[in-house]
Amino acid sequence: MSAKIISGTETAKAIREELKIEVAELTEKHGVVPGLVTILVGEYPASQSYVTAKNKTAHALGIHSEQVTLDADTPEEELLALVDKYNKDDKINGILVQLPLPKHIDEAKVLYAIDPKKDVDGFHPVNIGKMVLGEECFLPCTPHGILELLMRSGVETSGAEVVIVGRSNIVGKPMANLMLQKRDAGNATITLCHTRTKDIDFHLKRADIIIAAVGVANMISADQVKEGVVVIDVGVNRVGKAANGKAILAGDVDFDSVKEKAAAITPVPGGVGPMTITMLMKNTVQAARQANGL
Ligand code: GUN
Repeated sequence: MSAKIISGTETAKAIREELKIEVAELTEKHGVVPGLVTILVGEYPASQSYVTAKNKTAHALGIHSEQVTLDADTPEEELLALVDKYNKDDKINGILVQLPLPKHIDEAKVLYAIDPKKDVDGFHPVNIGKMVLGEECFLPCTPHGILELLMRSGVETSGAEVVIVGRSNIVGKPMANLMLQKRDAGNATITLCHTRTKDIDFHLKRADIIIAAVGVANMISADQVKEGVVVIDVGVNRVGKAANGKAILAGDVDFDSVKEKAAAITPVPGGVGPMTITMLMKNTVQAARQANGL
């Protein structure tokens, strides 16, 4: 058996088409142009390309976007002042501070400074709290994108044994919370594995759905999973450089072997990545609607 490939590229394209229409309608009927600012501090290797992709996508959808790049040694107060400036800027509905930040900056302090109404990343404790309670809020983009992928590819999650590998604030923890809720792509039984898990193979082997978000290239191989598993691979690991200078990427899952055993699997690239950016756009449009009472 060879797995169905769950294409994030295709699903993201469909959602972007919907968003493009929504943005055009907001602009033409209501004079509202959703606005997003991305703030990058320093030159963490992957961040520059992520931020560029976010701005490019915003532009393609008719979303006003601004990109601010600050030196790696920018003082924390300067970044906080910039966040505050955008909190007060009516043209901007969404503020994204790209993580990770340089070591001398307190990440939590910066994330807490973002107005929760403009927190399109869904990282502010107000939004995280609402998410855990199942209230309406901005959902963090990667987990939100995974929920959409599961829904739109018809994966049954109700009652499923879902094994999540990796306990980050950005993916693992929110993913676990969302999938146990009474909601679409929810109602699952969750196991969250991490670096201190005693027997990860035991958990992987009985999983109906595996969500891998560890950041270790090809960590999960075919002999660790059961026949018919659905695999969502969040890993984006740079494993080399092509002749044209572009990074060669690999997921956390050994795609070539696991696809022969799985019922469905996301590729890297072209799986979760495009969905993350698309959900950021969705959140920005939602923020613009809310800011204008629409
Ligand atoms: N770094 C890696 N993923 C993300 C994300 O979704 N948002 C932000 N702000 N930084 C990130």
